[in-house]
Amino acid sequence: MEKLKLGIIGCGGMMSHHVSRLLTFEDVQITAVADPRAERAEAMQKRTGAVKVYASHKELFAGGDKLDAVYIAVEPTAHDGIEEECIARGLPFMVEKPMTMCLEQAKKITDAVKAKGLVTAVGFQDRYLAVTDRIKKELSDMKVGLVYGSWFGGVPQVWWWMKKATCGGQLYEQNIHLLDQLRYFFGEAEKVYAVSGRTLIDPKEFPDTLPAYDTDDFSTAVITFKNGVVANLMSCCYVTGKGNPIRNGLTIIGRDKSLEYSLRNSVTVYEAGREEKIVNQTDQSDRHARAFLDAVKVGDPTAVRSPYPDAYETLRLAAAANESIASGNAVFL
Ligand SMILES: NC(=O)c1ccc[n+]([C@@H]2O[C@H](COP(=O)([O-])OP(=O)(O)OC[C@H]3O[C@@H](n4cnc5c(N)ncnc54)[C@H](O)[C@@H]3O)[C@@H](O)[C@H]2O)c1
Repeated sequence: MEKLKLGIIGCGGMMSHHVSRLLTFEDVQITAVADPRAERAEAMQKRTGAVKVYASHKELFAGGDKLDAVYIAVEPTAHDGIEEECIARGLPFMVEKPMTMCLEQAKKITDAVKAKGLVTAVGFQDRYLAVTDRIKKELSDMKVGLVYGSWFGGVPQVWWWMKKATCGGQLYEQNIHLLDQLRYFFGEAEKVYAVSGRTLIDPKEFPDTLPAYDTDDFSTAVITFKNGVVANLMSCCYVTGKGNPIRNGLTIIGRDKSLEYSLRNSVTVYEAGREEKIVNQTDQSDRHARAFLDAVKVGDPTAVRSPYPDAYETLRLAAAANESIASGNAVFL
């Protein structure tokens, strides 16, 4: 069997997660890895058996290895021409969300990907949860007005998450998963109004972090969708280890039926005479990787649930929420 030859750019926490799935596939060979942090790149080379190890994406592309696709998981501010180089070479790529801090760059990449018909995927793996399929099915006969959702927790311990300038805030970086789920369920948004607060976390709580913490402790965004659904999506990262986040996920209120999606875990369906809890039994990251790799094999960009041009719309919505936080006004998309 001819194996798909993959290049890997960024060897941090999330790439490690991807690689744990990729290494289980018999039709995949990781041939080149890159990271400026030499200890990470070398550890990844050892783990994957990659033939080549590079200090950056630039060196990897200059290395001349024959690649069939590229996996990209770098900081949101580090998308320094990586996707553009893939496009120029006609190389399919899977890139992590949020794909960049610069919406203009994302728009150019979107246009170029569409023009080339390139196979791409963005790390919105929750579209591949079995419970996501179930929610879609339940929604097909529901009339929905309101949705409320939340992602409550603590501060992820990576330096770039501490600064709004390098992560975009929790909604842009983390709760973007639920934002994307909302788009997957209800279509495009029309308007967003968001507010945030920074009243609970003292930057001194993270003394080893440079630059100092300055991102939102919490935010809430009210989103009106073109189909009339209104969603309120809350995020907070101030809950300490002693705290107990009440719940994360989405509650979808219909007329005759309601759904309670517990993040990456289950969905409970409520209707007259029926309360059914469906627990997720599949690995969304596995299905996400498989869909991308199979699409690469047949060259079909439509076989991926979250290709770059679609994910761009989620990024645009997250950026609009940030614009609303900054201006104090509702933002129309
Ligand atoms: N889909 C998900 O559920 C999920 C979960 C966690 C993180 N993420 C996303 O994954 C991305 C990476 O997050 P992380 O937690 O792995 O961060 P990380 O800081 O652990 O790793 C990023 C790595 O990229 C490397 N890097 C930077 N520029 C590079 C370049 N030009 N060439 C090669 N390597 C380069 C860094 O040195 C670092 O090792 C972020 O966008 C994050 O939002 C997604």
